[in-house]
Amino acid sequence: MIKHNRFPEPDGKISVVPSVLSADFSCLKSQFAGFEKHADWIQVDVMDGHFVPNISFGPHIVKCIKKAFSLPVDVHLMVERPDRFIKSFFQAGADLITVHLESKCGIKECLKKIRSFNMKSGIALKPKTEINGIREFLPFMDLLLVMTVEPGFGGQEFVSGTLAKIDRGRKIIDKTGLKIWLQVDGGINAETGTAVLKKGADSLVVGNALFSSKNPVKLIKYLKNYRFGGSRASEQ
Ligand code: DX5
Repeated sequence: MIKHNRFPEPDGKISVVPSVLSADFSCLKSQFAGFEKHADWIQVDVMDGHFVPNISFGPHIVKCIKKAFSLPVDVHLMVERPDRFIKSFFQAGADLITVHLESKCGIKECLKKIRSFNMKSGIALKPKTEINGIREFLPFMDLLLVMTVEPGFGGQEFVSGTLAKIDRGRKIIDKTGLKIWLQVDGGINAETGTAVLKKGADSLVVGNALFSSKNPVKLIKYLKNYRFGGSRASEQ
């Protein structure tokens, strides 16, 4: 029986989220053994080869990950028609599903459908997509994912032009008073991680930097314990 986890709400703390896109599936359990208890949830990047030029995982992988680990699972749908996959990923054990604003479906309907299964809902934006497009969906979302690379592959270089968007996203979310995670994903390591934290991100998806690290726990702890000198504003 696939169990669902209560997905954490933003609480002012920083969440660090391993992305399995860069993991070695021949030894996934042992790869996580060192840092599973320090991670907040797991992200599974789903790609259809149309919305992004790569193909990755289906619901079966989520089912296996839910059996192997006790952490909540966040499914990032990089697919043209996310509406077609919400039920199957729910049945596989997804606890949160993020859809792209650029996908070819009714976004509000998608977010409502995700929540109708008692999962948390999120919107993801590619680096070039304007952030104002999320405003009408804010009441229906629990997470905003600002991609800091062009979606499709792990191990890419961080796109520093997204920092201003993260800052805007923080201001938009704070103004609503709603509990919405501001998540970033792509090229996140110790250096880029602190740069996005200064702009107001509170959830960091980390793939390559974690799975290639000799000391993943040290990286997770560094990012989770990062403290700003003054307020975020003074860091800018
Ligand atoms: C891109 C993926 C990656 C992945 C993280 O579509 O979404 O960003 O999760 O990969 P790294 O941390 O290796 O850039």
